[in-house]
Amino acid sequence: MKRVLITGASSGIGRALAAAYAADGADLVLFGRDAERLEKSAQACREAGAKNVETHVADVRNREKMAQLLMAADGRGPIDILVANAGVATGLSSGQIQETPEAVRAMMAINVAGVFNTVEPLIPAMSGRRRGQIAIVGSMAGVRALPYSPAYCAAKSAVHMWADCLRGSLAPYGVAVSLIVPGFVKTPMNAPLKAWQPGAISDSEAARIVKRGLDRRRGVIAFPYYMYAAMRLFSFLPSGVVDSVMRRFDVAVLETRERGESP
Ligand SMILES: NC(=O)c1ccc[n+]([C@@H]2O[C@H](COP(=O)([O-])OP(=O)(O)OC[C@H]3O[C@@H](n4cnc5c(N)ncnc54)[C@H](OP(=O)(O)O)[C@@H]3O)[C@@H](O)[C@H]2O)c1
Repeated sequence: MKRVLITGASSGIGRALAAAYAADGADLVLFGRDAERLEKSAQACREAGAKNVETHVADVRNREKMAQLLMAADGRGPIDILVANAGVATGLSSGQIQETPEAVRAMMAINVAGVFNTVEPLIPAMSGRRRGQIAIVGSMAGVRALPYSPAYCAAKSAVHMWADCLRGSLAPYGVAVSLIVPGFVKTPMNAPLKAWQPGAISDSEAARIVKRGLDRRRGVIAFPYYMYAAMRLFSFLPSGVVDSVMRRFDVAVLETRERGESP
């Protein structure tokens, strides 16, 4: 029976992944910000068969609190799988030239520093045990630049690179690192997105794919794979050509209302 810790477990992909592990009888440690939504997710996991579910309300930007909660959770029972999933989206609406600097900084603090705050505290314990898995949720937006969400792409490419580096540096210590690269997944994050969403799947389908990849300790779990291959190919093609093709799509990404670099 695995002990699995997931951030962003109150909604979308994180909540669905928690439910998928619950069905296997896992011992779950769920993190979220909205206490009510987190408790609903936890209750669903208990009903689905989780052996044990503990919940923690915390903002991933709060480095000190995250470290304290993560280490305490690991002390109660060693974490086998840590999933750094919490994140927010932001981008440009039609006609908007530049993203609001305060929104950019808040998103960066959540999507980049928040991932560091989630993963760093457990590296010494996992590598000391020579056992454990770390999964970092990126995005297709981290593979090739999208003109509609500059800062989000920058944040996701940063965590992609970090995950790829950690995979190499932690392997000798018995810790496996997986980079998760979702395409379009139907979650509250994506609901306000005005765009053609090829290959969009449900959160439970995404969770099934992620869990299967983690069971196999895959280094990169990208889905749909054709989209990942296309994004990789685009990054090799002349940038001006790809940019002009991308600009032809009518895409509006709602700017995040998140503000503040730390709570
Ligand atoms: N949906 C997609 O198409 C898609 C595609 C590629 C990548 N992703 C990535 O997948 C991950 C999950 O996204 P989702 O689609 O499942 O979105 P979602 O349904 O909006 O869920 C986001 C989760 O992150 C949590 N969160 C946000 N800010 C937080 C903060 N400051 N501190 C702690 N928790 C915070 C939310 O908690 P509260 O609700 O409790 O605040 C929520 O549980 C994100 O990293 C996202 O970038 C999603």
